[in-house]
Amino acid sequence: MTDSTTAPIALITGASRGIGRLLAQKLGQRGVTVVVTYKGNADLAEQSLADVRAAGGDGITAQVDIEQPESIDALFDLVRDTYGRLDMFVANAAASAFKPVADLKLHHLDRSYATNARSFVLGAQRAAELMDRGGRIVVVTSYGSLRAFPTYAALGAAKAMTEAYTKYMAVEFGPRQITVNAVNGGLIDTDSLDYFYNSVPGMAPMSSVIEKLPLQRPGTADDMADAVDFLLSDRASYITGQTLSVDGGLTVIAPPYWADTTSPLRDAVLPAAGAADPAAGTAE
Ligand SMILES: NC(=O)c1ccc[n+]([C@@H]2O[C@H](COP(=O)([O-])OP(=O)(O)OC[C@H]3O[C@@H](n4cnc5c(N)ncnc54)[C@H](OP(=O)(O)O)[C@@H]3O)[C@@H](O)[C@H]2O)c1
Repeated sequence: MTDSTTAPIALITGASRGIGRLLAQKLGQRGVTVVVTYKGNADLAEQSLADVRAAGGDGITAQVDIEQPESIDALFDLVRDTYGRLDMFVANAAASAFKPVADLKLHHLDRSYATNARSFVLGAQRAAELMDRGGRIVVVTSYGSLRAFPTYAALGAAKAMTEAYTKYMAVEFGPRQITVNAVNGGLIDTDSLDYFYNSVPGMAPMSSVIEKLPLQRPGTADDMADAVDFLLSDRASYITGQTLSVDGGLTVIAPPYWADTTSPLRDAVLPAAGAADPAAGTAE
């Protein structure tokens, strides 16, 4: 295990499950000390911390509700009192209501803003204060900030706000050698994707989207965590103010879709049924 008095310190919101949990493990492999935060699943957070330790890192678990400013403050007070400083802050946790714009009530708007956009700014302010040797800030966003799809307006708009803040923070924190970037995910196979396609009444089937993606598969939490891990690393020290899409090409396609074409045009790009699985191919 790395010496926890000299190891880099990272704080990840929402590290009990999904993308945040895999990221915590990857940071553990680099000997990082990780503050594994969660909202309600203390047991899962402990399991995530055990993964970090097994990988070679260390850390603590911490409960936070990012919708509540006082809870965010208490979290950063804990980091300050425990470690005295911070190297990396990943704003990963998110929550929202999935409804058409016409059905969004005042509390949906306020909670989406508070949980996703306000929490990023409040967290980044506190994180930057603790980054005494430069640092890395990454916010996890989604393609709903760039494209409009059913029921995602409240979250997509809040994610777009964090991407705008990413640019402003990059400019203002840059002189302190703190980089600020966003990782924008497409369809990523986690609990929240399952909820979106299987619990939002009337949602289109996920298969109707997957077949249109250039890479023809959902992303994995590993795909996302790898991108965040890269932006947190020394290899990304000259990248700031950017939004990196990890979406299998989702945000570059437009109608008419290749998946909706027919032979002979379709044959030029899409393999016939029963041909080799395109998702199994690897780049040479
Ligand atoms: N999955 C996708 O398809 C997808 C696509 C693009 C972008 N993203 C983005 O990726 C990020 C992570 O998503 P995910 O799918 O990995 O999430 P997930 O599996 O649903 O996990 C959510 C995490 O956030 C925590 N959390 C939820 N509400 C919270 C709150 N109010 N305060 C503090 N923590 C809270 C949860 O803690 P508990 O375990 O204690 O509940 C959990 O650790 C999000 O920003 C999401 O928008 C996801």
